[in-house]
Amino acid sequence: MSYSSHSSFNRFAEATLADLWLPEESCEQVLDWMTGNKNFLVYLGNPGIGKTHLSRAVLKDYTKGINHKRYWKEADLLARLRSGMDDRGDYIENLKYLCDDDLIIIDDLGSCGLTDWRKEVLFALIDFRYESMKPTMFTSNLSRNDFKENFEPRVFSRLFDKENTILEISGKDRRLN
Ligand SMILES: Nc1ncnc2c1ncn2[C@@H]1O[C@H](COP(=O)(O)OP(=O)(O)O)[C@@H](O)[C@H]1O
Ligand SMILES: [Mg+2]
Repeated sequence: MSYSSHSSFNRFAEATLADLWLPEESCEQVLDWMTGNKNFLVYLGNPGIGKTHLSRAVLKDYTKGINHKRYWKEADLLARLRSGMDDRGDYIENLKYLCDDDLIIIDDLGSCGLTDWRKEVLFALIDFRYESMKPTMFTSNLSRNDFKENFEPRVFSRLFDKENTILEISGKDRRLN
């Protein structure tokens, strides 16, 4: 099994699905999504609630039907795509190569701010994963309404498709107390 990750994630080295700080119903939703082995898990929540922790736990513990899995922070993926652009500014082949794994996790969606280029890339990414139906997890500090107001309808429509699993959770910032 290939498992792309970063050595800079020591903070989350112990993250496991056995110890989630989520309401019980949300834990069940996550486990059901993993059992289904397709479509999106979208976790919206305020900073410090545990989104990256859950991402790391899913990355580590998700094994069903998975040969290759990969975790990206949005900022790292965008930087990588930009640096790999060819003379004509084409990034699509690279995007497909970097996000073609059986499981992809995109942490902090929308965190980089939205230029026209970023909007275009995020649509291409979301559409590519949506069409593949492969399991994909997105986390974001943005609310559903933020997505509605700031992204194109075709992004909103795919992210919040009723077949997806959507967690919208607010709670205390675990970094602060
Ligand atoms: N289930 C958990 N068990 C232990 N620590 C956790 C858990 N969830 C979150 N944390 C800790 O709380 C802090 C904030 O979590 P994090 O995942 O970084 O939040 P977010 O990505 O939503 O901003 C981190 O230090 C993280 O290690
Ligand atoms: Mg985070």
